[in-house]
Amino acid sequence: MSNREIQAAWKYHDGTKHSYWSVRNHPHFLDWANRPLPFKIYPKIEPLPLPRDVPQTGVAVLSAISERVPPTRADSIPNLQDLARLLYFSAGITKQRAYRGGEIYFRAAACTGALYEIELYVVSSDLPGLDAGVYHFNPADVSLRLLRKGNFRGNLAQATAMEPAVAHAPATIICTGTYWRNAWKYQARTYRHFGWDNGTLLANMLAVLAASRLPAKIVLGFVDAEVNRLLDLDTLREVSLCLVPIGRASESLPESSLPAPSEVPTLGLETIPLSQHEVEYPAMLEMHDASSLESLDEVAEWRGKPLIFPDSALAGEAVFVPHLREEEQPKDTTEEVILRRGSTRTFDNAASITLAQLSTILDCATRGLPADFLEPPGTQLNDLYLIVHAVQGLKRGAYFFGREQNTLELLKEGEFRGEAHYLGLEQDLPADACVDIFFLADLNRILERYGNRGYRAVQLEAGAIGGRIYLAAYAQHLGATGLTFFDDDVVNFFSPRATGKSAIFLLAIGKPLKRKPQ
Ligand SMILES: Cc1cc2nc3c(=O)[nH]c(=O)nc-3n(C[C@H](O)[C@H](O)[C@H](O)COP(=O)(O)O)c2cc1C
Repeated sequence: MSNREIQAAWKYHDGTKHSYWSVRNHPHFLDWANRPLPFKIYPKIEPLPLPRDVPQTGVAVLSAISERVPPTRADSIPNLQDLARLLYFSAGITKQRAYRGGEIYFRAAACTGALYEIELYVVSSDLPGLDAGVYHFNPADVSLRLLRKGNFRGNLAQATAMEPAVAHAPATIICTGTYWRNAWKYQARTYRHFGWDNGTLLANMLAVLAASRLPAKIVLGFVDAEVNRLLDLDTLREVSLCLVPIGRASESLPESSLPAPSEVPTLGLETIPLSQHEVEYPAMLEMHDASSLESLDEVAEWRGKPLIFPDSALAGEAVFVPHLREEEQPKDTTEEVILRRGSTRTFDNAASITLAQLSTILDCATRGLPADFLEPPGTQLNDLYLIVHAVQGLKRGAYFFGREQNTLELLKEGEFRGEAHYLGLEQDLPADACVDIFFLADLNRILERYGNRGYRAVQLEAGAIGGRIYLAAYAQHLGATGLTFFDDDVVNFFSPRATGKSAIFLLAIGKPLKRKPQ
């Protein structure tokens, strides 16, 4: 199945929709004895511990996520401390809690079910403090493990058809998804979660890189098989999802010139099995194959054309959402906010937030991601629709966020806590929040332009914007949580404005309920 045969993405999307009846007709019970390991462990490779006492950037997270920190470092070559900072604050363990079956190691970025199926690898040239090689990052012992020695930058440049950011980057992070680690709970829907959970992690990663003043970009255009081979992945279990080139090597230095691609023999490195047995979900393998790029021509075509969305004319009453001036915004630092973040488990349904808080979140999170599929810069695949329950200065109701005009267009006025409870899979969180932000996208147009790989892009973008919303909320001492939803009911609720779109993502914002002292 080729990337152009977009019925594959529709088949996967339609086949993994949640509805009132699907969750009742197909209940899934968790097999706790077969719970997957949360880490990829190479038992025979010596760890290279990363430094733990890395200086903090001190940069306000709201500036870092809204790309207001120019990448001004003269060298733009990351060193080992930069790598340690970015790996830890993207995927490191930030909290630990006991549960009935053992311990849960919570990580820097939100992840469906706390199952952490996204792995990180580093492909680097010689950096200050690190020899050139292909490394795997293990958050359990905050270490790298060397999988291949040598400089493989040329292989990545080739696999991406000489994508400029990759070709010039002294180091590139590769994010992969491990099917079973998430499918243990979410079955075939895990392929959607790959995008969401990779996205929240990327929001942190881009924030830390901006705060470290290192340029970076999300690259989705690459020949899948070449990158998977470089990492020696067993592709029935784990696949590469995106590349993040970091820094920029100066072309005048001889050691910065791009090496020719090297041979990458199969390594067959031993890893500890995740579970006693794994269940394969063919729908995900089919979706991945159908969205894989097989040749450099396909990669070049993927990057080639900008995606033009028609202007969305205002249809209803619109409220202008004022930008908060930068000097009025909270200055909580990137590291501080990432360590503070944790999904809200109960919202206070008597609380409210201000319009300025909401507008800061919307503005900072939607300034545009640096990504090869978002051309011209500032393009966004997902539209944001809101259910406002308790925002001072806004009528309660359903809204469309006009990103360019910076407006909230009132679609219907009313108290919709009951509807939000239902749409968010009958959970209390979306009903008790102050505002629910739904992401909807014109999948028809996106798949026509990008083929099946557009499905990866739209899910990933939603996760990354969602991750920025988490950070913008926690920077203001608010709470937030990602949520799942009944797909078609969400579209119906926001129609006619949303007719023809597909539901992609949901996030709720509010104030956490403070527990009364016992
Ligand atoms: C995309 C996404 C969807 C989520 N969906 C739900 C949900 O439906 N219900 C829920 O209680 N938590 C949900 N969560 C929250 C996760 O359970 C939470 O991120 C995870 O347990 C890790 O904890 P932390 O975010 O506090 O670090 C979701 C998180 C994400 C990123």
